Amino acid sequence: MKDILTAPFMVEMIRTTTNMYNHGWDERNGGNISLLLDETEVKEYLDTDHVIRSIPTGFSAPELDGRYFLVTGTGKYFKNVQYAPDVNLGLVRLCDGGETAQLLWGYTDGGKFTSEFPAHMMSHVARLKVDSANRVVMHCHPANLLAMTYVHTLDEREFTRTLWQMCTECIVVFPDGVNVLPWMLCGTNEIGEATAEKMLTARLVVWSLHGIYGAGKDLDETFGLIETAEKAAEIYMKIAHLPRVNTITDDMMHQLEERFGVKGREGYLD
Ligand code: 13P
Ligand code: ZN
Repeated sequence: MKDILTAPFMVEMIRTTTNMYNHGWDERNGGNISLLLDETEVKEYLDTDHVIRSIPTGFSAPELDGRYFLVTGTGKYFKNVQYAPDVNLGLVRLCDGGETAQLLWGYTDGGKFTSEFPAHMMSHVARLKVDSANRVVMHCHPANLLAMTYVHTLDEREFTRTLWQMCTECIVVFPDGVNVLPWMLCGTNEIGEATAEKMLTARLVVWSLHGIYGAGKDLDETFGLIETAEKAAEIYMKIAHLPRVNTITDDMMHQLEERFGVKGREGYLD
């Protein structure tokens, strides 16, 4: 059996949480990540018959029965993952129709998966329906996207169009746009269901006055997705109070669609 701390998925998870902390997106215990793993890659590092403990999830997700996830722990600081991955991360397998998570590795201080586990697992179900290559759900609290939800309309078309106008490549990186939820109580099945519903039509879901969710095929891509939206929000927050002299027009965005072979969300461009 190989050392799990050398597994590419573990190395990448540690690098990503560290990088997110360094970007200021994950103060204190803010943010959480879940990474879907293949059974064959898990078996290289763990005896999958050895269940450390079983933890009830409080929801059902039959689509994910038997699936393995590497997940950040609740109350844990991204800052600390690199120093104690086995305390701050856990590797679980869902069973009982998703109602139980079997802990196979990690959470060594008796901890458990993130309080946002419902939003993560329900979002995985939703994104896998759209794209079977989806592996990652990532949540964090980037300052500019969060700030934007205080001063910009939460209308999804308007919110998306503003972000697209802030950097030329935004429409290329997230042509499906950004979906937006109103403020809701976090850590609940309700916000999980609402997030998953929004994930059916976009890979980015803003939680107003809280943060953002991103989904993608690997950690790098998902990080880059949030990074691009956050950069756009940063530019918006720099210019929102100033007269706009120039902008990226819908005509320019149509040229980008053609050049990069993407299609902006239906009805979002004039
Ligand atoms: P957890 O510490 O439970 O992951 O919660 C952090 C967070 O960002 C809640 O939305
Ligand atoms: Zn949060």
